[in-house]
Amino acid sequence: MQAGKSVLLIIGGGVAAYKALLLIRLLKSAGIGVRTVLTKAGGQFVTPLSVGALSGEKVFTDLFDLTDEAEMGHIQLSRAADLVVVVPATADLMAKMAAGLADDLATTLLLATDKDVLIAPAMNVRMWDHAATQANLATLRVRGVSVVGPDEGDMACGEYGPGRMAEPEAIFTAIQAKLGGGPRDLAGRRIVVTSGPTHEPIDPVRYIANRSSGKQGQAVASALAARGAEVVLISGPVRLDPPPGVETRKVETAREMMAATLAALPADAVVCAAAVADYRVADAADQKLKKADGAGRSLTLVENPDILATVSALPQGERPPLVVGFAAETQDVIAYASAKRERKGCDWIVANDVSQGVFGGDENRVTVIDAGGSEDWPRMGKDAVAERLAGRIAKAMA
Ligand code: C5P
Repeated sequence: MQAGKSVLLIIGGGVAAYKALLLIRLLKSAGIGVRTVLTKAGGQFVTPLSVGALSGEKVFTDLFDLTDEAEMGHIQLSRAADLVVVVPATADLMAKMAAGLADDLATTLLLATDKDVLIAPAMNVRMWDHAATQANLATLRVRGVSVVGPDEGDMACGEYGPGRMAEPEAIFTAIQAKLGGGPRDLAGRRIVVTSGPTHEPIDPVRYIANRSSGKQGQAVASALAARGAEVVLISGPVRLDPPPGVETRKVETAREMMAATLAALPADAVVCAAAVADYRVADAADQKLKKADGAGRSLTLVENPDILATVSALPQGERPPLVVGFAAETQDVIAYASAKRERKGCDWIVANDVSQGVFGGDENRVTVIDAGGSEDWPRMGKDAVAERLAGRIAKAMA
């Protein structure tokens, strides 16, 4: 469906520029035309030769290249494609976009274009967190620029945090969504997704929580919505922006998550990706607990309701036809996850091996277990896992 569409790909100057090469391949194999612009800094990381070889087209680099101007003016170049994509969008490029500077070919095109723009930011975590970058980001968002990533993870500079560019598969999915031609095989379906951690209060200022980032659940919600599903995301407290095109209901505790999930039914499917706290404090204090000098303190914990098991056990007619759970395991993944599927009564379990640094990271390696057996998926970005899971859900519901 997207074959015949075209993208103007601006490659900025960052280590992540190599991922632009993989993106070009993905776009080309989907039949999407790619015309590329390499910034001067981008040219320090990838060569016009490799970009040109992959895109199969001339690579544009210089605003004052008279041949290019004779063949195609920069105004025309900025408008010939269906979508302008900036990969990687460096802090500098974002700042220039926000300020409306036009001092080279890439920035001139970005100022001159009348097409939608999608950026994939990539930079050092401190540069990303800097108030200037965040203000530029907000400005760009208000102007309608779409943003994919950045992810949180290890960075080339040796630091850890948000700033790592989204994986090519995720950028590809975002491009497909912008071009509007992805499969809409979940149109008319209503799907509830739980995501993120829960916070279980100890007193008004303290709580018990876990390290879930909510990334995988939000990616699933986005991927389902991109396929046309009406998605209700029940999210525990996370640091992520709510995904566009999804109705997000924020909750804090497991019991609130349970109530919100049941209230969101009926649905055609429920995906429980939340890392729900198994226990809560039996009698959370109304007032802040004071330090008792020298004395220890113990908390009595009581079990939380199991949302996945509860939804799976709903009577026929109320139970969504497809209930999917997640299972984080550190050993004997398939055996434990299969047993969990049986015990909780859900249809599929997406099992991830969290012994491999999955929590909070951007990649996941999962095994999907259903009544028919298990399916091992290779290690990939959480967005790619979400996209593949959404495809599997669409197929199961067809
Ligand atoms: O038992 P465990 O926490 O490993 O099970 C994981 C699966 O069960 C996930 O899908 C999670 O969202 C779901 N779950 C739930 N309510 C709970 C505990 C887990 O929905 N209280």
